[in-house]
Amino acid sequence: MSEYPRWWPEGVVYQVYPRSFADGNGDGTGDIAGIRARLGHLHRLGVDAIWVTPWYPSPLNDGGYDVADYRDIDPRFGTLAEAEQLIEEAHEWGLKVIVDLVPNHTSADHAWFQEAIAAPPGHPSRQRYHIRSGTGVDGSEPPCDWKSVFGGPAWERLDDGEWYLHLFDASQPDLNWENAEVRAEFCAVFQFWLDRGVDGFRVDVAHGLVKDPTFPDMAEDSQLLENSRQPNHPFWDRDGVHEIIREWRAVLDACGRDVMMVAEAWVHSSRLPLYLRPDEYHQSFNFDFLECEWDPTLMRAVVDGAIGAAESVHSTPTWAFSNHDVVRHATRYGLPPNTNWRRWLHDGPHDVLDAALGLRRARAAALLLLALPGSAYVYQGEELGLPEVWDLPPEVLDDPAWERSGHAVKGRDGCRVPLPWTPDGPSFGFGSSDPWLPQPAAFAELAASVQDGVVGSTLELYRSALRLRSTELVGVGALAWLDLRDDVLAFRRGDIACVINYGADPLDLPAGEVLVHSGSGSTPLAHELHADEAAWVRLTT
Ligand code: NOJ
Repeated sequence: MSEYPRWWPEGVVYQVYPRSFADGNGDGTGDIAGIRARLGHLHRLGVDAIWVTPWYPSPLNDGGYDVADYRDIDPRFGTLAEAEQLIEEAHEWGLKVIVDLVPNHTSADHAWFQEAIAAPPGHPSRQRYHIRSGTGVDGSEPPCDWKSVFGGPAWERLDDGEWYLHLFDASQPDLNWENAEVRAEFCAVFQFWLDRGVDGFRVDVAHGLVKDPTFPDMAEDSQLLENSRQPNHPFWDRDGVHEIIREWRAVLDACGRDVMMVAEAWVHSSRLPLYLRPDEYHQSFNFDFLECEWDPTLMRAVVDGAIGAAESVHSTPTWAFSNHDVVRHATRYGLPPNTNWRRWLHDGPHDVLDAALGLRRARAAALLLLALPGSAYVYQGEELGLPEVWDLPPEVLDDPAWERSGHAVKGRDGCRVPLPWTPDGPSFGFGSSDPWLPQPAAFAELAASVQDGVVGSTLELYRSALRLRSTELVGVGALAWLDLRDDVLAFRRGDIACVINYGADPLDLPAGEVLVHSGSGSTPLAHELHADEAAWVRLTT
């Protein structure tokens, strides 16, 4: 047991993608000044913590997941002093702060990589990365056939003829985790941010890091992230990663405060508990809802699976419906069943999208997300019901997947469009100039100020549910399923029931007081659920 009161096992974490959250200095890119100015919004929303995706100096080739310096802030986002002020002010608002660490790769602009490529083959600085000679008679073939997650080969050739590995963009060389300096450096980076008062870390590509040192060739289709859950994969989820995690955990455990780290690990569900052992991560994201159809049986299986996996290692589950890497769920749920939404984004047909249906379901999903035991992750803008901006014109696309796939994959920009804060202005209150990605006209009516105080708005739905969660559900413990109807998902925690109707027929809610309702804002709240609506009921005992 921890010696500190732990904030995270049932915490609600709000994901801030700084580039698109709020622009304080008017240059069209979100920044720390913008986040600081909106801490009141987050406090009023009722979340416990913010997770800030990478804000470090970076060429932003991969939205900041290409870090050039782990101990500073990109000037477009602000300064280190401003980051420290943000951490302090967030604490004053009662919000914890999680920063994002990227240990699998650096930016090619990182001093280490610059030193390595300036040095001759064989130089020790090259040992911090996977830099090797090629194959074929003259070494002109890459060391092996691995492919980048963003498309194309995972090896890039240097001018001197050697090759370096990059599982993501060519501007993101993979670090060599067999190297002692790399290991020591990241322990020091954890300590650097702990010394600045952060409360946690989100660790990028947590299932990466360790590579098969024999660099075997492999079949092309087993290299994609989606297909990464096979045993003994040469670069995903290798056993050696756990030793590294334990080193980091020791740094956190020694800091004398209640801090946590959460893994971004795309691994087979049977392997996930390994990352959650008592001396490893405190939490891991559970991505199952990101890939799950709007279906009561499938969603119940997701819930049972995640709770079972967490319990098997005395951990707690986490839940999320959206993040900065996937099509927003208000759009996913408006698509016909079994649509491959990644492909749909690019190829359509786009007229099959029922946006109103998607929003109705996303609102119901909010009540599921916030009723489940464990911790919940809310992606910025989902509290406004934002849809995916699927029709961004090709010339503004910024995701490296777009270019690296030869324009076959549209990428993730559509979920990263700057937030609307007001119904007017050059960027709907995001900033005072044109935003770095264009916002659709429909964002005006979804702006935070438009929804503020409006009974039944998505923003007020999230606020009500978050308030009720903290008073009625935190600390209540496990869930018990209620079998109401085949097309209904229902469970109770304590005397609160969460009920979601997936069917076409209306459902009479169980006897009790309706506390929050995704389809009805006016009081008294309806005692009936129509299709794709959810409610919480304080059951009459
Ligand atoms: C996962 C991050 O969420 C994603 O945005 C990024 O492109 C990759 N890791 C590579 O760092």
